[in-house]
Amino acid sequence: GTATSAGNCDTSSVTGTLLSSDGPLPPYFAVPLPQPPVLRPVSTDDTTDYYELTARAGSARILPGVNTTIWGYDGIFPGPTIVSRSGRRTVVRHFNELPVPTAAHLHGGHTPADSDGYPTDAIVRTGGTLPDIRQYAGMTMSPGDFRVNYGYRDYVYPLNQRAATLWYHDHRMGFTAPQVYYGLAGFHLVSDDEEAGLPLPGGDKDLLLMIVDRAFDGDGQLKYPATDPSLLHEVGVSSRYHNGVLGDTILVNGVPWPFLDVANTRYRFRILNAANARRLELALDPPPADGPHFIQVGSDGGLLGRPVGHDLISIAQGERFDVVVDFRNYQVGDRVTLVNRAGSGSTAVVMQFRVGRREIDQSWVPSTLSDPSEYDALTPDLASVTRAMRFSGGNPWEINGAPFDLGRVDADPKLDATEIWKISTSAHHPVHLHLVQFKIIARTAGVRPTDGGWKDTFDLSPREDGYILTRFSDYPGMYVFHCHNLEHEDMAMMANVAVG
Ligand code: C2O
Ligand code: CU
Repeated sequence: GTATSAGNCDTSSVTGTLLSSDGPLPPYFAVPLPQPPVLRPVSTDDTTDYYELTARAGSARILPGVNTTIWGYDGIFPGPTIVSRSGRRTVVRHFNELPVPTAAHLHGGHTPADSDGYPTDAIVRTGGTLPDIRQYAGMTMSPGDFRVNYGYRDYVYPLNQRAATLWYHDHRMGFTAPQVYYGLAGFHLVSDDEEAGLPLPGGDKDLLLMIVDRAFDGDGQLKYPATDPSLLHEVGVSSRYHNGVLGDTILVNGVPWPFLDVANTRYRFRILNAANARRLELALDPPPADGPHFIQVGSDGGLLGRPVGHDLISIAQGERFDVVVDFRNYQVGDRVTLVNRAGSGSTAVVMQFRVGRREIDQSWVPSTLSDPSEYDALTPDLASVTRAMRFSGGNPWEINGAPFDLGRVDADPKLDATEIWKISTSAHHPVHLHLVQFKIIARTAGVRPTDGGWKDTFDLSPREDGYILTRFSDYPGMYVFHCHNLEHEDMAMMANVAVG
Protein backbone atom coordinates (compact mmCIF):
# COMPACT_ATOMS: atom_id res chain seq x y z
CA GLY A 1 0.00 0.00 0.00
CA THR A 2 2.77 2.52 -0.66
CA ALA A 3 3.04 4.96 -3.53
CA THR A 4 6.46 5.78 -4.93
CA SER A 5 7.61 9.25 -5.84
CA ALA A 6 10.11 9.68 -8.61
CA GLY A 7 12.01 12.02 -6.33
CA ASN A 8 12.45 15.70 -5.88
CA CYS A 9 16.01 16.23 -6.98
CA ASP A 10 17.06 19.81 -7.46
CA THR A 11 20.48 19.96 -9.01
CA SER A 12 21.48 23.39 -7.67
CA SER A 13 20.34 22.54 -4.21
CA VAL A 14 23.36 23.21 -2.04
CA THR A 15 23.79 26.72 -0.70
CA GLY A 16 27.03 27.51 1.04
CA THR A 17 30.79 27.82 0.75
CA LEU A 18 32.99 24.75 1.04
CA LEU A 19 35.57 24.70 3.80
CA SER A 20 38.15 21.98 3.11
CA SER A 21 40.01 19.91 5.66
CA ASP A 22 43.75 20.46 5.86
CA GLY A 23 44.72 16.85 6.55
CA PRO A 24 43.81 13.65 4.69
CA LEU A 25 40.15 12.63 4.90
CA PRO A 26 39.44 9.56 7.06
CA PRO A 27 38.62 6.31 5.20
CA TYR A 28 35.07 5.37 4.22
CA PHE A 29 33.21 2.64 6.11
CA ALA A 30 35.96 1.99 8.66
CA VAL A 31 34.02 2.56 11.89
CA PRO A 32 30.69 1.10 13.03
CA LEU A 33 27.70 3.41 13.38
CA PRO A 34 27.33 4.39 17.04
CA GLN A 35 24.07 5.33 18.75
CA PRO A 36 24.06 8.16 21.28
CA PRO A 37 23.42 6.94 24.84
CA VAL A 38 19.93 7.36 26.29
CA LEU A 39 19.89 9.86 29.15
CA ARG A 40 18.52 8.62 32.49
CA PRO A 41 16.33 10.94 34.51
CA VAL A 42 17.88 12.15 37.76
CA SER A 43 14.47 11.74 39.35
CA THR A 44 10.85 11.13 38.46
CA ASP A 45 7.53 11.70 40.20
CA ASP A 46 3.86 11.16 39.34
CA THR A 47 3.80 13.76 36.59
CA THR A 48 7.35 14.61 35.65
CA ASP A 49 10.74 13.24 34.62
CA TYR A 50 13.71 15.42 35.58
CA TYR A 51 16.92 15.41 33.56
CA GLU A 52 20.23 17.22 33.70
CA LEU A 53 22.59 18.05 30.86
CA THR A 54 25.83 19.98 30.96
CA ALA A 55 27.19 21.84 27.96
CA ARG A 56 30.93 21.42 28.21
CA ALA A 57 34.07 20.73 26.24
CA GLY A 58 34.83 17.09 25.55
CA SER A 59 37.24 14.96 23.62
CA ALA A 60 35.88 12.89 20.75
CA ARG A 61 37.45 10.18 18.61
CA ILE A 62 36.27 11.33 15.18
CA LEU A 63 39.38 10.87 13.04
CA PRO A 64 41.67 7.82 13.40
CA GLY A 65 44.13 8.22 16.24
CA VAL A 66 43.19 11.83 17.01
CA ASN A 67 41.32 13.37 19.93
CA THR A 68 39.16 16.22 18.69
CA THR A 69 37.91 18.84 21.11
CA ILE A 70 34.18 19.37 20.82
CA TRP A 71 31.52 21.26 22.70
CA GLY A 72 28.79 18.81 23.60
CA TYR A 73 25.88 18.19 25.92
CA ASP A 74 27.56 16.13 28.65
CA GLY A 75 30.70 16.57 26.56
CA ILE A 76 29.62 14.24 23.74
CA PHE A 77 28.44 14.67 20.15
CA PRO A 78 25.64 13.89 19.47
CA GLY A 79 24.41 14.65 22.97
CA PRO A 80 22.56 11.98 24.97
CA THR A 81 19.11 11.05 23.64
CA ILE A 82 16.15 11.99 25.81
CA VAL A 83 13.14 9.69 25.49
CA SER A 84 9.79 11.02 26.74
CA ARG A 85 6.25 9.77 26.75
CA SER A 86 3.75 12.14 25.14
CA GLY A 87 1.94 14.21 27.78
CA ARG A 88 4.47 13.43 30.48
CA ARG A 89 6.15 16.59 31.70
CA THR A 90 9.87 16.61 31.07
CA VAL A 91 12.11 19.08 32.88
CA VAL A 92 15.66 19.48 31.65
CA ARG A 93 18.13 21.41 33.76
CA HIS A 94 20.70 22.67 31.28
CA PHE A 95 24.01 23.56 32.93
CA ASN A 96 26.57 25.53 30.99
CA GLU A 97 30.29 25.19 31.66
CA LEU A 98 31.42 26.58 28.31
CA PRO A 99 33.22 29.90 27.92
CA VAL A 100 30.30 31.11 25.76
CA PRO A 101 26.63 31.73 26.60
CA THR A 102 24.18 29.03 25.48
CA ALA A 103 20.42 28.79 24.91
CA ALA A 104 18.80 25.37 24.51
CA HIS A 105 15.96 24.91 22.02
CA LEU A 106 13.82 21.80 21.63
CA HIS A 107 13.26 21.82 17.86
CA GLY A 108 9.73 20.63 17.09
CA GLY A 109 8.60 20.93 20.69
CA HIS A 110 5.21 22.44 21.51
CA THR A 111 6.77 24.45 24.31
CA PRO A 112 5.80 27.44 26.48
CA ALA A 113 7.79 30.53 25.45
CA ASP A 114 9.80 30.65 28.70
CA SER A 115 11.32 27.27 27.95
CA ASP A 116 11.66 27.59 24.18
CA GLY A 117 15.25 28.80 24.17
CA TYR A 118 14.58 32.28 22.83
CA PRO A 119 18.01 33.37 21.55
CA THR A 120 18.61 36.00 24.24
CA ASP A 121 17.49 33.77 27.14
CA ALA A 122 21.09 32.92 27.82
CA ILE A 123 22.83 30.58 30.23
CA VAL A 124 26.23 31.91 31.28
CA ARG A 125 28.61 29.66 33.21
CA THR A 126 28.97 30.29 36.91
CA GLY A 127 31.42 33.16 37.39
CA GLY A 128 31.29 34.02 33.68
CA THR A 129 30.14 37.21 32.06
CA LEU A 130 27.89 37.95 29.14
CA PRO A 131 30.10 39.10 26.26
CA ASP A 132 29.28 42.68 25.41
CA ILE A 133 28.24 42.40 21.77
CA ARG A 134 26.29 45.40 20.56
CA GLN A 135 26.48 44.95 16.84
CA TYR A 136 26.73 41.75 14.87
CA ALA A 137 25.78 40.85 11.32
CA GLY A 138 23.36 43.70 10.86
CA MET A 139 21.69 43.16 14.24
CA THR A 140 21.84 45.53 17.14
CA MET A 141 21.82 44.10 20.65
CA SER A 142 22.50 45.49 24.05
CA PRO A 143 23.36 43.58 27.22
CA GLY A 144 19.98 44.63 28.59
CA ASP A 145 18.27 42.58 25.86
CA PHE A 146 19.50 39.37 27.46
CA ARG A 147 17.79 37.51 30.25
CA VAL A 148 20.69 35.68 31.83
CA ASN A 149 20.72 32.65 34.09
CA TYR A 150 24.08 31.88 35.67
CA GLY A 151 25.14 28.23 35.94
CA TYR A 152 21.96 26.58 34.68
CA ARG A 153 18.42 27.07 33.49
CA ASP A 154 15.41 24.77 33.83
CA TYR A 155 13.40 24.06 30.69
CA VAL A 156 9.89 22.70 31.22
CA TYR A 157 8.40 20.67 28.37
CA PRO A 158 4.73 19.66 28.71
CA LEU A 159 5.10 17.53 25.54
CA ASN A 160 1.41 17.59 24.82
CA GLN A 161 2.13 16.46 21.29
CA ARG A 162 2.21 13.33 19.19
CA ALA A 163 5.04 10.83 19.08
CA ALA A 164 7.82 12.44 17.04
CA THR A 165 11.54 12.64 16.45
CA LEU A 166 12.56 15.98 17.96
CA TRP A 167 16.02 17.32 18.54
CA TYR A 168 17.61 19.83 20.84
CA HIS A 169 20.38 22.23 19.97
CA ASP A 170 21.97 25.50 20.89
CA HIS A 171 20.20 28.69 19.80
CA ARG A 172 22.35 31.47 21.17
CA MET A 173 21.70 34.88 19.66
CA GLY A 174 23.98 35.42 16.66
CA PHE A 175 26.23 32.43 17.41
CA THR A 176 24.09 29.36 16.87
CA ALA A 177 26.09 28.23 13.83
CA PRO A 178 29.52 27.87 15.47
CA GLN A 179 28.06 26.43 18.67
CA VAL A 180 26.08 23.72 16.89
CA TYR A 181 29.06 23.09 14.59
CA TYR A 182 31.20 22.40 17.66
CA GLY A 183 28.69 19.75 18.73
CA LEU A 184 25.75 21.17 20.71
CA ALA A 185 22.97 18.94 19.29
CA GLY A 186 21.10 15.80 20.39
CA PHE A 187 17.88 13.85 19.85
CA HIS A 188 14.72 14.05 21.96
CA LEU A 189 12.24 11.32 21.07
CA VAL A 190 8.59 11.49 22.05
CA SER A 191 6.61 8.24 22.04
CA ASP A 192 2.92 7.57 22.57
CA ASP A 193 0.47 4.66 22.74
CA GLU A 194 -0.48 4.94 19.09
CA GLU A 195 3.14 4.56 18.01
CA ALA A 196 3.89 1.84 20.58
CA GLY A 197 1.02 -0.22 19.14
CA LEU A 198 2.55 -0.33 15.64
CA PRO A 199 4.51 -3.34 14.36
CA LEU A 200 7.32 -1.13 12.99
CA PRO A 201 10.93 -2.29 13.45
CA GLY A 202 12.02 -1.72 17.06
CA GLY A 203 14.90 -2.30 19.45
CA ASP A 204 18.22 -2.46 17.62
CA LYS A 205 16.32 -2.05 14.35
CA ASP A 206 15.05 1.44 15.27
CA LEU A 207 18.10 3.65 14.83
CA LEU A 208 18.97 7.33 14.85
CA LEU A 209 20.99 8.92 12.06
CA MET A 210 22.18 12.47 12.74
CA ILE A 211 23.96 13.60 9.59
CA VAL A 212 26.29 16.61 9.48
CA ASP A 213 29.27 17.83 7.47
CA ARG A 214 32.41 19.20 9.08
CA ALA A 215 35.98 20.17 8.20
CA PHE A 216 39.13 19.57 10.25
CA ASP A 217 42.43 21.39 10.52
CA GLY A 218 45.83 19.71 10.18
CA ASP A 219 45.73 18.67 13.86
CA GLY A 220 42.35 17.02 13.44
CA GLN A 221 40.49 19.79 15.26
CA LEU A 222 37.18 21.18 14.06
CA LYS A 223 37.71 24.02 11.66
CA TYR A 224 35.17 26.84 11.52
CA PRO A 225 35.64 30.09 9.63
CA ALA A 226 35.15 32.49 12.50
CA THR A 227 36.58 35.91 11.80
CA ASP A 228 39.00 35.16 14.61
CA PRO A 229 38.98 31.54 15.82
CA SER A 230 40.46 32.46 19.17
CA LEU A 231 37.54 34.81 19.73
CA LEU A 232 34.72 32.46 18.76
CA HIS A 233 32.58 33.75 21.59
CA GLU A 234 32.89 37.33 20.47
CA VAL A 235 33.17 37.09 16.71
CA GLY A 236 30.84 35.01 14.57
CA VAL A 237 31.23 33.51 11.14
CA SER A 238 33.46 35.29 8.68
CA SER A 239 31.33 37.25 6.25
CA ARG A 240 33.06 35.39 3.41
CA TYR A 241 30.96 32.42 4.53
CA HIS A 242 27.67 34.26 4.79
CA ASN A 243 26.09 31.77 2.36
CA GLY A 244 26.71 28.98 4.86
CA VAL A 245 29.55 26.71 5.94
CA LEU A 246 29.92 23.38 4.11
CA GLY A 247 32.48 20.78 5.20
CA ASP A 248 34.07 17.95 3.21
CA THR A 249 33.66 15.23 5.86
CA ILE A 250 30.27 13.60 6.42
CA LEU A 251 29.62 12.45 9.99
CA VAL A 252 26.76 10.21 11.06
CA ASN A 253 26.21 10.23 14.82
CA GLY A 254 29.57 11.92 15.18
CA VAL A 255 31.76 9.54 13.16
CA PRO A 256 32.88 9.75 9.53
CA TRP A 257 31.19 7.60 6.86
CA PRO A 258 30.33 4.70 9.21
CA PHE A 259 29.09 1.22 8.34
CA LEU A 260 26.23 -0.73 9.88
CA ASP A 261 25.90 -4.53 9.85
CA VAL A 262 22.27 -5.38 9.18
CA ALA A 263 20.10 -8.47 8.77
CA ASN A 264 17.99 -8.94 5.63
CA THR A 265 14.96 -7.42 7.39
CA ARG A 266 13.25 -4.07 7.74
CA TYR A 267 14.95 -1.30 9.73
CA ARG A 268 13.57 2.01 10.93
CA PHE A 269 15.85 5.03 10.65
CA ARG A 270 15.07 8.44 12.15
CA ILE A 271 17.10 10.65 9.86
CA LEU A 272 17.99 14.17 11.01
CA ASN A 273 19.92 16.66 8.93
CA ALA A 274 21.75 18.61 11.64
CA ALA A 275 24.21 20.26 9.24
CA ASN A 276 24.68 24.01 9.32
CA ALA A 277 24.16 24.61 5.61
CA ARG A 278 24.25 21.34 3.70
CA ARG A 279 21.06 20.03 2.12
CA LEU A 280 21.08 16.27 1.45
CA GLU A 281 19.39 14.16 -1.21
CA LEU A 282 19.47 10.61 0.03
CA ALA A 283 19.13 7.38 -1.93
CA LEU A 284 20.42 3.81 -1.77
CA ASP A 285 23.08 2.48 -4.12
CA PRO A 286 22.52 -0.09 -5.49
CA PRO A 287 18.75 0.38 -5.45
CA PRO A 288 16.60 -2.34 -3.88
CA ALA A 289 15.55 -5.18 -6.20
CA ASP A 290 11.94 -4.35 -5.48
CA GLY A 291 9.97 -1.48 -3.94
CA PRO A 292 10.99 2.04 -2.99
CA HIS A 293 14.35 2.94 -1.44
CA PHE A 294 12.62 4.40 1.62
CA ILE A 295 9.16 3.93 3.09
CA GLN A 296 8.44 7.16 4.95
CA VAL A 297 6.45 6.60 8.14
CA GLY A 298 6.96 9.96 9.83
CA SER A 299 7.79 13.61 9.22
CA ASP A 300 9.04 16.40 11.53
CA GLY A 301 5.86 16.29 13.62
CA GLY A 302 5.35 12.54 13.92
CA LEU A 303 3.74 9.61 12.18
CA LEU A 304 2.07 10.03 8.82
CA GLY A 305 -1.48 8.79 8.38
CA ARG A 306 -0.24 6.32 5.76
CA PRO A 307 3.24 5.27 4.63
CA VAL A 308 4.68 6.84 1.47
CA GLY A 309 7.46 5.33 -0.64
CA HIS A 310 10.30 7.49 -1.99
CA ASP A 311 13.30 6.71 -4.15
CA LEU A 312 14.99 9.98 -3.17
CA ILE A 313 14.59 12.04 -0.03
CA SER A 314 15.62 15.67 -0.03
CA ILE A 315 16.28 16.62 3.58
CA ALA A 316 17.23 20.14 4.55
CA GLN A 317 18.83 21.40 7.75
CA GLY A 318 16.54 20.82 10.72
CA GLU A 319 14.20 18.39 8.94
CA ARG A 320 13.55 14.81 10.06
CA PHE A 321 12.44 11.86 7.96
CA ASP A 322 11.35 8.73 9.79
CA VAL A 323 11.75 5.90 7.28
CA VAL A 324 11.79 2.15 6.97
CA VAL A 325 14.39 0.51 4.72
CA ASP A 326 13.52 -3.02 3.69
CA PHE A 327 16.74 -5.04 3.38
CA ARG A 328 14.72 -8.09 2.30
CA ASN A 329 15.13 -6.56 -1.15
CA TYR A 330 18.88 -7.26 -0.99
CA GLN A 331 20.98 -10.43 -0.88
CA VAL A 332 23.02 -11.48 2.11
CA GLY A 333 26.52 -10.27 1.29
CA ASP A 334 25.35 -7.06 -0.39
CA ARG A 335 26.87 -3.74 0.56
CA VAL A 336 24.48 -0.86 0.20
CA THR A 337 25.66 2.74 0.27
CA LEU A 338 23.51 5.57 1.55
CA VAL A 339 24.43 8.21 -1.00
CA ASN A 340 23.87 11.96 -1.16
CA ARG A 341 22.87 12.90 -4.70
CA ALA A 342 23.27 16.57 -3.85
CA GLY A 343 26.93 16.08 -2.93
CA SER A 344 30.03 15.46 -4.97
CA GLY A 345 33.24 13.60 -4.19
CA SER A 346 33.47 12.90 -0.47
CA THR A 347 30.10 14.50 0.29
CA ALA A 348 28.26 12.22 -2.14
CA VAL A 349 28.74 9.33 0.29
CA VAL A 350 27.06 9.08 3.71
CA MET A 351 27.41 5.55 5.10
CA GLN A 352 27.24 1.86 4.22
CA PHE A 353 24.87 -0.94 5.18
CA ARG A 354 26.31 -4.48 5.11
CA VAL A 355 23.64 -7.10 4.75
CA GLY A 356 25.37 -9.87 6.65
CA ARG A 357 22.79 -12.28 8.01
CA ARG A 358 19.43 -13.89 7.41
CA GLU A 359 16.65 -13.35 9.93
CA ILE A 360 12.92 -13.79 10.05
CA ASP A 361 11.37 -10.31 9.99
CA GLN A 362 8.82 -9.82 12.77
CA SER A 363 8.07 -6.23 11.79
CA TRP A 364 5.88 -4.77 9.08
CA VAL A 365 4.59 -1.42 7.91
CA PRO A 366 0.81 -1.19 8.26
CA SER A 367 -1.15 0.78 5.70
CA THR A 368 -2.57 2.98 8.48
CA LEU A 369 0.02 4.46 10.83
CA SER A 370 -1.86 7.10 12.78
CA ASP A 371 -5.22 8.78 13.14
CA PRO A 372 -5.29 11.51 10.48
CA SER A 373 -8.38 13.30 11.79
CA GLU A 374 -6.59 16.27 13.37
CA TYR A 375 -4.44 16.76 10.26
CA ASP A 376 -7.40 16.43 7.91
CA ALA A 377 -9.54 18.78 10.01
CA LEU A 378 -7.10 21.67 9.61
CA THR A 379 -8.32 23.22 6.36
CA PRO A 380 -7.49 26.57 4.72
CA ASP A 381 -11.04 27.89 5.17
CA LEU A 382 -10.39 28.02 8.94
CA ALA A 383 -7.66 30.61 8.47
CA SER A 384 -8.47 34.11 9.66
CA VAL A 385 -5.24 35.75 8.54
CA THR A 386 -2.83 35.37 5.62
CA ARG A 387 0.66 36.78 6.17
CA ALA A 388 3.49 37.23 3.71
CA MET A 389 7.07 36.39 4.71
CA ARG A 390 9.75 37.11 2.15
CA PHE A 391 13.24 35.65 2.64
CA SER A 392 15.84 37.69 0.77
CA GLY A 393 19.06 39.62 1.16
CA GLY A 394 22.60 38.34 1.54
CA ASN A 395 24.74 39.87 4.20
CA PRO A 396 22.76 40.50 6.32
CA TRP A 397 19.98 38.15 5.34
CA GLU A 398 16.51 39.57 5.66
CA ILE A 399 12.86 38.69 6.18
CA ASN A 400 10.40 41.19 4.71
CA GLY A 401 13.25 43.51 3.83
CA ALA A 402 14.81 43.82 7.27
CA PRO A 403 17.43 41.99 9.34
CA PHE A 404 16.34 40.59 12.70
CA ASP A 405 15.59 43.21 15.33
CA LEU A 406 15.05 42.08 18.91
CA GLY A 407 12.69 44.97 19.53
CA ARG A 408 10.44 44.51 16.50
CA VAL A 409 7.44 42.19 16.28
CA ASP A 410 7.18 40.71 12.78
CA ALA A 411 3.99 38.67 13.23
CA ASP A 412 1.39 38.74 15.99
CA PRO A 413 -0.96 35.77 15.63
CA LYS A 414 -3.76 35.62 18.20
CA LEU A 415 -3.73 32.65 20.53
CA ASP A 416 -5.55 29.75 18.85
CA ALA A 417 -5.79 31.61 15.53
CA THR A 418 -5.45 29.58 12.35
CA GLU A 419 -3.28 31.34 9.80
CA ILE A 420 -1.86 30.86 6.32
CA TRP A 421 1.67 32.10 5.77
CA LYS A 422 2.89 32.75 2.27
CA ILE A 423 6.65 32.30 2.25
CA SER A 424 8.67 33.62 -0.69
CA THR A 425 12.36 33.10 -1.27
CA SER A 426 15.21 34.56 -3.26
CA ALA A 427 17.65 31.69 -2.65
CA HIS A 428 17.31 28.26 -1.04
CA HIS A 429 16.08 28.62 2.54
CA PRO A 430 14.86 25.89 4.91
CA VAL A 431 12.52 27.95 7.09
CA HIS A 432 11.61 26.89 10.63
CA LEU A 433 8.75 28.08 12.81
CA HIS A 434 8.86 27.51 16.57
CA LEU A 435 5.94 26.42 18.79
CA VAL A 436 3.77 24.76 16.15
CA GLN A 437 3.69 22.07 13.51
CA PHE A 438 2.20 23.13 10.19
CA LYS A 439 0.83 21.68 6.95
CA ILE A 440 2.42 22.53 3.62
CA ILE A 441 -0.63 23.34 1.48
CA ALA A 442 0.85 24.71 -1.75
CA ARG A 443 4.13 25.59 -3.42
CA THR A 444 5.23 26.90 -6.78
CA ALA A 445 5.98 23.60 -8.48
CA GLY A 446 3.26 21.75 -6.58
CA VAL A 447 3.31 20.06 -3.18
CA ARG A 448 5.84 17.20 -3.21
CA PRO A 449 5.30 13.63 -2.01
CA THR A 450 7.90 14.37 0.71
CA ASP A 451 5.91 17.40 1.99
CA GLY A 452 3.23 15.32 3.73
CA GLY A 453 2.49 15.19 7.43
CA TRP A 454 3.11 17.71 10.18
CA LYS A 455 6.14 19.86 9.49
CA ASP A 456 8.12 22.43 11.47
CA THR A 457 10.73 23.07 8.79
CA PHE A 458 9.93 23.81 5.15
CA ASP A 459 12.67 23.69 2.53
CA LEU A 460 12.00 26.26 -0.18
CA SER A 461 13.79 26.41 -3.51
CA PRO A 462 15.06 29.66 -5.03
CA ARG A 463 12.32 32.01 -6.22
CA GLU A 464 9.61 29.82 -4.80
CA ASP A 465 6.35 30.67 -3.03
CA GLY A 466 5.16 28.19 -0.44
CA TYR A 467 2.06 28.25 1.73
CA ILE A 468 1.77 26.81 5.21
CA LEU A 469 -1.30 26.42 7.39
CA THR A 470 -1.16 26.24 11.17
CA ARG A 471 -2.94 26.98 14.42
CA PHE A 472 -1.08 28.96 17.09
CA SER A 473 -2.37 26.99 20.02
CA ASP A 474 -1.80 26.82 23.75
CA TYR A 475 1.14 29.04 24.65
CA PRO A 476 1.28 32.81 24.25
CA GLY A 477 4.64 34.59 24.14
CA MET A 478 7.57 35.48 21.95
CA TYR A 479 8.88 32.87 19.52
CA VAL A 480 11.11 32.99 16.47
CA PHE A 481 10.71 32.11 12.81
CA HIS A 482 13.98 31.79 10.94
CA CYS A 483 16.09 30.18 8.27
CA HIS A 484 17.71 26.93 9.45
CA ASN A 485 20.79 27.53 7.37
CA LEU A 486 22.54 28.39 10.62
CA GLU A 487 24.84 30.97 9.07
CA HIS A 488 21.81 32.69 7.52
CA GLU A 489 20.11 32.57 10.91
CA ASP A 490 23.12 34.09 12.65
CA MET A 491 23.32 36.69 9.91
CA ALA A 492 19.91 38.01 10.89
CA MET A 493 17.45 35.88 8.87
CA MET A 494 15.05 35.63 11.78
CA ALA A 495 11.72 37.18 12.77
CA ASN A 496 9.87 37.68 16.04
CA VAL A 497 6.49 35.99 16.35
CA ALA A 498 4.47 37.33 19.30
CA VAL A 499 1.68 34.82 19.94
CA GLY A 500 -1.40 36.02 21.85
CU1 C2O B 1 16.31 24.05 15.06
CU2 C2O B 1 15.05 27.86 15.88
O1 C2O B 1 15.80 25.94 15.51
CU1 CU C 1 18.53 30.78 4.45
